[in-house]
This record gives sequence, structure tokens and C-alpha cells, in this order.
Amino acid sequence: MLPLRPAALVTLLRAAGSGGGLRRHPAGVWHVSSAPPQPVIAAKEPFPVELKAGKKYAWCGCGHSKSQPFCDGTHKKAAPGISPVRFTAEKDTTAWLCGCKRTRSPPYCDGTHKGEAVQSARLPTQP
Ligand code: FES
Repeated sequence: MLPLRPAALVTLLRAAGSGGGLRRHPAGVWHVSSAPPQPVIAAKEPFPVELKAGKKYAWCGCGHSKSQPFCDGTHKKAAPGISPVRFTAEKDTTAWLCGCKRTRSPPYCDGTHKGEAVQSARLPTQP
């Protein structure tokens, strides 16, 4: 194990406290990122879901959940720093919940998925 100089340790702690942290580069080298973790695109379109009045929901904000569009707890390991959006339905309704995880009004779709950045992106499940 390599010894850490105090300045390097301060950098690591600041990165961890800002939502960034240690990231493993594909080449196998560890590096520090100060950028907050970014969600992955779970789908390129919203999910229509039937919401029940008074029921509590947790919308997946990281994109890693296998229970889209809802949280299954995967963010704890796959995307620490990204939390689900918890909300209570005010009435029985069909809602379009964001699947691209880029909406500016989570958990609801705002049309951001129609943009080139989402439509041209490769989904994690695509080869
Ligand atoms: S699915 Fe994300 S903005 Fe529409």
C-alpha cells in the first residue's frame, strides 16, 4: 500500500464530502473525482404507472434499480450519493415517471428524454 501525503488525504476527504469520491478507472487506476455521481439512463422514455391516493413511493434516481421506475435499494452500492425521490400520490391517477433520470422535475417526465443526449445514449443493458 502506498503511503498518502497529508495533502492527498485532504483531497480525498474533500472529494468524498462533496458527493464525489474514489473512482476506479477502466485501466485499473484509482483516481479522485470531485464530480457528483451521475445517474444512468434506465430507459429512453417515461414509465406510465398507476398511482394510488395516499400511497408512498420511492422513484429511482440513479437508474440502476431493477424495479424501474421505483427504487430497489441498488443505489446504496451502485451509486452512493444518489438518493431516490420519495413522494406521496395526492390522488388516484396515471403518472408518467421519468425513465431517463434526466428530468428537471423528478419524479415526473418533463420531456428531456426527447433530446439527443438521451436518444443517442447507449443503455447499460445494450451490448
Ligand atoms: S423519461 Fe426522463 S424526461 Fe421523460
